[in-house]
Amino acid sequence: MANQSSRYPILCASFNQDNSGFAISTKDGFKIIDSNTGRLCYDRAVGAFIIVEMLYSSSLLAIVGAGEQPSLSPRRLCLFNTTTGAPLREMTFLTSILAVRLNRKRLVVVLQEKTYIYDSNSLSMLDTIDTVPNLKGLCAFSPSLEGCFLALPASTAKGAVLVYNVMELQLHCEIDAHRSPLAAIALSSNGKYIATASEQGTIIRVHLVSEATKSYSFRRGTCPSTIFSLSFAPSLQLPDILVATSSSGSVHIFSLGFETNQRTKMSGSFLGSILPYSVNDALDPAHHHVLHNAVSAGVRSYAVVRKVDKVADSSSSEIASCRSVLGCVLASELYLFIYFCVPFYLPYLYVRLPCPLPPFFYLLTSARS
Ligand SMILES: *[C@@H]1O[C@H](CO)[C@@H](O)[C@H](O)[C@H]1NC(C)=O
Repeated sequence: MANQSSRYPILCASFNQDNSGFAISTKDGFKIIDSNTGRLCYDRAVGAFIIVEMLYSSSLLAIVGAGEQPSLSPRRLCLFNTTTGAPLREMTFLTSILAVRLNRKRLVVVLQEKTYIYDSNSLSMLDTIDTVPNLKGLCAFSPSLEGCFLALPASTAKGAVLVYNVMELQLHCEIDAHRSPLAAIALSSNGKYIATASEQGTIIRVHLVSEATKSYSFRRGTCPSTIFSLSFAPSLQLPDILVATSSSGSVHIFSLGFETNQRTKMSGSFLGSILPYSVNDALDPAHHHVLHNAVSAGVRSYAVVRKVDKVADSSSSEIASCRSVLGCVLASELYLFIYFCVPFYLPYLYVRLPCPLPPFFYLLTSARS
């Protein structure tokens, strides 16, 4: 990463709750971009931010400074109105803010050893969760009001995850998912599924949140690698799709057709008796598609699916019958990064996916590590 990237480092890059937009920030300020069109929706050059979280496509942003300017402390959360260009509220914490998640009812602030849950309208504090040291601010949040969950690491020694019901403010379950500590967690936006990966990175597990004992595993590969991101496709469409990026440079796309499929293929005992760590439930490779060399090996990247379309012809496998899995990949790589440099134009590279999963992935950049 040479001169050009250090001139315009991307400090953070994050998608909104329905992946319809994303925010990126550099040392100079932040930008909001529409993921469908690449249109620049908002641009503010007011200094460096380490967190920029959108509330869908509304005028509300939650922003946290990178600490480069005294006025932009990493301990201060600012709720910001993009229409007026003014802060709505500011909240200061004792330690740096590592992650922020929000929906129309709840605001979640993740610190290293505490996670706070607020009412997002009144900003009154509703709950405080003491966590194990969560150095990376690992968390997952499902924004749906019907299935609003928060997942946090439950251990630093193994891959256990706590799932809180954020609306009811109570612990929902604890899932022992992996032997090694967690590297990534994702909830589907409707709160139906939780996906986890450990530092080992070879297996990705998916649990039904409602019945946390049921687990399904995808083998990403046989060599250990770091899972940088896990993300579910918008859950209204079928089949459910999970995408993962890893230090191998590949983007993995898994189809979660198992709810209907497994019932016909397997007997009842398959669903009920999954022990933590068991991998006998690894899914058919037909459910797994890999986009090789999406970014160079080792480059940190994030991917999301924009939408999944069903096509009329569904004679073949389930995954072949859906099309237009449209994703975004954000990666911290110089040659991709150039797309963010001035002039700031459509910051996308289009890459055709191998058949049968068609269309294209957006490639963006982020230098956050
Ligand atoms: C931001 O300001 C506009 C204009 O005053 C207002 O209509 C909108 O509701 C505000 N947004 C938030 C999130 O307060």
